[in-house]
Amino acid sequence: MNTTQQYRFRKATLEDLALLEAWQSNPHVRAWWGSDAPYDAAKLADPRVDRWIVSHGARAFAYMQDYTVHGWEDHHFFHLPKGARGIDQYIGDPEMIGLGHGSAFINARMQVLFAQGAPVIATDPHPNNERAIAVYKKLGFETSGPAQKTRWGLIVPMLAFARAEGRHSCHPAPSLRR
Ligand SMILES: CC(C)(COP(=O)(O)OP(=O)(O)OC[C@H]1O[C@@H](n2cnc3c(N)ncnc32)[C@H](O)[C@@H]1OP(=O)(O)O)[C@@H](O)C(=O)NCCC(=O)NCCS
Repeated sequence: MNTTQQYRFRKATLEDLALLEAWQSNPHVRAWWGSDAPYDAAKLADPRVDRWIVSHGARAFAYMQDYTVHGWEDHHFFHLPKGARGIDQYIGDPEMIGLGHGSAFINARMQVLFAQGAPVIATDPHPNNERAIAVYKKLGFETSGPAQKTRWGLIVPMLAFARAEGRHSCHPAPSLRR
């Protein structure tokens, strides 16, 4: 289990499936997240992907996953350097949207990934997902190419690089809006 500032990241388990299915049925998630079942035992055991339930205080409110971009030969981030990680996430709890939590917990996980040696972090929102793209830009991501169709859907590739001295380029820690 990892704790970074006020966010707790614990590994997702099969016991979280009902929670994730409920979150994924919310319209604000369905608009931007695939309708597939969250995962099964085999996917959960896949070493290419780390899956996290994110809590703020005692309140679980988001799902996040990070993965090696070199786990699939046809992956659109396969060309990135060794150690590159991809990230995907959503806030499941509708009451937690738009308050700054997304920027803050994604930033928290990015700092851990950079500290663990990732030279670059990649993400791939739908080109029309303006809120997610705004958050990623705020966190130091830049668009790295045109929108493209992939077997995971239509995406715009975005990258955030670690600084040479090991710190990430952007952000003062984002603050919450209340
Ligand atoms: C994307 C997501 C994680 C962001 O988390 P969040 O807590 O809602 O976002 P924040 O409150 O931290 O920041 C939202 C930012 O987007 C901006 N924003 C909101 N709607 C916007 C829009 N339509 N166009 C441009 N910017 C927008 C806000 O102004 C805010 O920026 P600011 O802090 O500079 O004012 C969350 O909204 C979410 O889970 N959405 C549904 C699933 C999803 O899209 N997942 C991402 C898949 S790539």
